[in-house]
Amino acid sequence: MQRGLFITFEGADGCGKTTQIKLLKEYLEKSGYDVVLTREPGAKGLGEKIREILLNYDGIVSDRCESFLFLADRAQNIDIIVNPAVREGKIVLCDRHIDSTVAYQGYGRGLDLERINKLNQLATDGRMPDLTVVFDIDVETSMKRVGKEKDRMESAGIEFHNRVRKGYLEIAKNDPERVKVVDGAMSVDEVFEKVKEIINKTLQK
Ligand code: TYD
Repeated sequence: MQRGLFITFEGADGCGKTTQIKLLKEYLEKSGYDVVLTREPGAKGLGEKIREILLNYDGIVSDRCESFLFLADRAQNIDIIVNPAVREGKIVLCDRHIDSTVAYQGYGRGLDLERINKLNQLATDGRMPDLTVVFDIDVETSMKRVGKEKDRMESAGIEFHNRVRKGYLEIAKNDPERVKVVDGAMSVDEVFEKVKEIINKTLQK
């Protein structure tokens, strides 16, 4: 049986990560790997309900409440989807994970980073991703890609999204072993070449 892997994908809204994850899933499956796709917020089942609240609820949501909802979804994703699949030797590709909370709630909303790291640790039970790919893109391009129909998070404003971007770059700087940055402004094919390079290196380890 192959060794299981937990790989997460991060970046601004509209950075192209969802397209890249789909391409990667096909590529890995063609190479014979067993792949599981998941996302946060919105892991299959209960997570989908939490996602609905997080993205569409139009009443007041406190910053701390928002964080706990993301964390609740994360705990469910780790326990019900990620850990069982990795134990079975599968490769889990996860669209957003711990670094989204650091970038969005920490850098974006300004919540204490140390606290967020502790909460992330509780939510994941200490399980860290084996690899994280961050798609970096400037805020103007990402907002153009998102278009006019913005959800609650995407409507948070340019300044907020600039802080989120800075947050991701800091995360990568502080943990270069785990976190690899790819320029998300390149064409889909060019980005995918980079992604394959990174993944293949991890698979060869
Ligand atoms: P989603 O539609 O999944 O965005 P994308 O397709 O760009 O991944 O929406 C998720 C939104 O939630 C996105 O704006 C980022 C935000 N988010 C947080 O603020 N904190 C978190 O911990 C997570 C997982 C996501």
